[in-house]
Amino acid sequence: MTTVHWDIAIKPGELDAGPGTSDKRSLWEDHRQDLRAIKHQARLRRLQPRTGVDFSSNDYLALSTSQRLRDAVGAALVRGVSIGSGGSRLLRGNDPEHEALEAEAAAFFGSESALFFASGFAANAALLATLPQRGDLVVHDALVHASAHEGMRLGRAETRAATHNDAAAIETVIMQWRANGGTGRPWIAVESLYSMDGDRAPLAYLLEVATRHDGMLLIDEAHATGVFGPNGRGLAASLEGRENVITLRTCGKALGSEGALLCGPAVARDFLVNRARGFIFSTAPSPLMASAVREGLQMLADEPERRTRLAALIAHAEHVLAPCGVTPTGSQILPLMIGDDAATMRVAAAVQAAGFDIRGIRPPTVPAGTARLRISLTLNVDEADIDRLADSLQEILP
Ligand SMILES: Cc1ncc(COP(=O)(O)O)c(C=O)c1O
Repeated sequence: MTTVHWDIAIKPGELDAGPGTSDKRSLWEDHRQDLRAIKHQARLRRLQPRTGVDFSSNDYLALSTSQRLRDAVGAALVRGVSIGSGGSRLLRGNDPEHEALEAEAAAFFGSESALFFASGFAANAALLATLPQRGDLVVHDALVHASAHEGMRLGRAETRAATHNDAAAIETVIMQWRANGGTGRPWIAVESLYSMDGDRAPLAYLLEVATRHDGMLLIDEAHATGVFGPNGRGLAASLEGRENVITLRTCGKALGSEGALLCGPAVARDFLVNRARGFIFSTAPSPLMASAVREGLQMLADEPERRTRLAALIAHAEHVLAPCGVTPTGSQILPLMIGDDAATMRVAAAVQAAGFDIRGIRPPTVPAGTARLRISLTLNVDEADIDRLADSLQEILP
């Protein structure tokens, strides 16, 4: 993997000055100033090469490098599946692989229909920008992913945040909105397994709230798909197929490929096909990737031992990492809360220097004061790697 050299674009030393200290104005001065401000807050991000033992990817079942997926993609190429789609789904880009994937995904997850997007970000943004209408209310968990925020920003409905994982708080927001004259429909947006905290949403209670208020429940299953539920159908598997439930199943995490499927009622799919700008005005995802996802779904059903193995790694990691301060979540996402941004990045750098690929996560990705290491468990590691990580954390942590 190549390193991106920001310092070529941002001349050497230029970012070392404090915010606004340079009086030289160039074409890119405003952007450089913004970057200096980010650096000053110790939040400058850089693209890093992929090194160290994988404790950071979302390739939970190690499908991305599996021989079976490679073989399936090779076989798809041989049978003539094209690499590029050549256009929007509404024009020439609609490929039989997309349609086959969507039919198989709907059958697998138990929804009336499915629609394939090029990424989870694009799908989530399209969902929230398109389905809630003017006059509606979107109540979202305080910790939903940036892609949901992007959709809400583009959409026409009012939006309110509710306390994390608190279905009663969501209901209170809906009732207050109604009491203040809200006449549209409430949409509840949550994740089933939170990407930075590894905790689970109270889905059954959230469905009750949605149903009681004639509302919709949008469940982002990005991190649960493939890992939890019968055949890896996620934590929302038993809710799928209801008229007021839509799920997002990303394909770049446990499914080992790329893209995302929105699963839900056929009317929602038809509406997205007709109204979602990110679907209509975009080249359709690679048909080759659609065939990879088809195989990935089949692997979830055929290879339950991958989930069993991951569950064993989770149990082992919780046991040996808890004494280091890692929060046991019962999931493959284990945060090590540190709080201070700079301290988090120092610990992350030390852990990386010891040979582990673990990233520090800072605001704005997580709320201020909750910077952390995000430890992600995948089948790319084994118990011995986890033991070595525990030893290393014991040495590094203050
Ligand atoms: C909860 C959640 N939703 C959506 C996405 C976006 O998915 P993708 O990476 O496929 O764009 C992510 C990605 O990290 C995520 O964590």
